Amino acid sequence: MIQPAITGSGVFTPEEVITNAELVRAFNAYADKVNARNADAIAAGEAQPIAHSSEDFIVNASGIEQRHVIDKSGILDPDRMYPDIAPRPDDAPSLMAEMAQKAIVQALDQADREASEIDLVICAASNLERAYPAVAVEIQDLLGAGGFAFDMNVACSSATFGIQAAADMIRAGSARCAVVVSPEICSAHLEWRDRDCHFIFGDVATAVIVEPAEEATAEHFIIQSTRCETKFSNNIRNNNGFLRRAHDQMEDRRDMQFMQNGRKVFKEVLPMVSAHILDHLEAEGWQPDDLRRLWLHQANKTMNDFIGKKVLGRTPGAGEQPNILQDYANTSSAGSIIAFSLHSGDLKPGAKGVICSFGAGYSVGSVLVERA
Ligand code: COA
Repeated sequence: MIQPAITGSGVFTPEEVITNAELVRAFNAYADKVNARNADAIAAGEAQPIAHSSEDFIVNASGIEQRHVIDKSGILDPDRMYPDIAPRPDDAPSLMAEMAQKAIVQALDQADREASEIDLVICAASNLERAYPAVAVEIQDLLGAGGFAFDMNVACSSATFGIQAAADMIRAGSARCAVVVSPEICSAHLEWRDRDCHFIFGDVATAVIVEPAEEATAEHFIIQSTRCETKFSNNIRNNNGFLRRAHDQMEDRRDMQFMQNGRKVFKEVLPMVSAHILDHLEAEGWQPDDLRRLWLHQANKTMNDFIGKKVLGRTPGAGEQPNILQDYANTSSAGSIIAFSLHSGDLKPGAKGVICSFGAGYSVGSVLVERA
């Protein structure tokens, strides 16, 4: 049987950074403006004032210290509070495709492959900037790749579900050199005016190359097994979609951006993820102690600490479960891949690890890898 492997990975990090201090300053300025505008209604008890956000709350509740974004100025403008990303003409590369290409170039370099050798592009991301043609097909064209390409969306689990799809196609022989790319422009689906979540997301693009291990020309990780799981929940939801457009296009509706019931997500997803990883390990005959590294979805530090402890049966040691969310915030499906890409090069042959993402759906995806 053909054994798939991850032979390269790459991360495109947007240059612009927003620190918690900058974010909170902008949010509080916005809140003050709105409260001043509504002063009479607030005084009459007809409206609630918008409460200030706080740096301490953000770092304590999430572990996030800063985020990279495509456009900082629009987000931090108290009169705007969303990124200023200009629409592009149809004959220019779309933003997602451009970001994707930058991550793929790095991944190809690591895999020692040429773009022309790619015969499958999966653009796996939690938002797609248009309905069609698939962004993946545009990426394929920008790269000069062959074969075929398609988009898929499983929110925060898109990348691991994409790796499973690519690995299965490599095993089946329907592709020889696949790229799973996750350009995540989370800043454009975040409601920056909502104190409960304005600190959560950042922008990034990640890419991994998946090909038969026997054809790998560079150092690589064998994909020993993948497992995906979904269970419907409304606790993370975004209602923006083409059916809504005709009726709601002109309305400023909160549910057209990312919404979550964070506490419920916390309570419901944690046991699901821990059980998922433990079941997956058991099915493959792996012991938790076999794991040298856990590259987890990057949404919340407390959540990751809990999962690591539950899976290993002890507090993870330094470097066993690298977090990147302090620098990137939650980058949806890209988070676990950033952690993998930045913190896997030191592992020795035979070292085992798990890449795991989770989020809206609910969805959980795990990929068991072993350094060749
Ligand atoms: N600044 C100051 N205070 C804030 C605040 C902010 N930015 N945002 C919320 N608060 C307040 C709340 O109003 C609340 O006050 P109250 O107790 O007086 O009602 C209090 O802080 C606690 O808020 P809560 O939303 O319950 O915080 P939390 O501890 O649950 O942390 C999250 C919030 C979002 C960080 C956390 O729930 C989480 O990470 N959940 C999982 C998210 C996840 O994985 N999502 C997947 C997305 S892909």
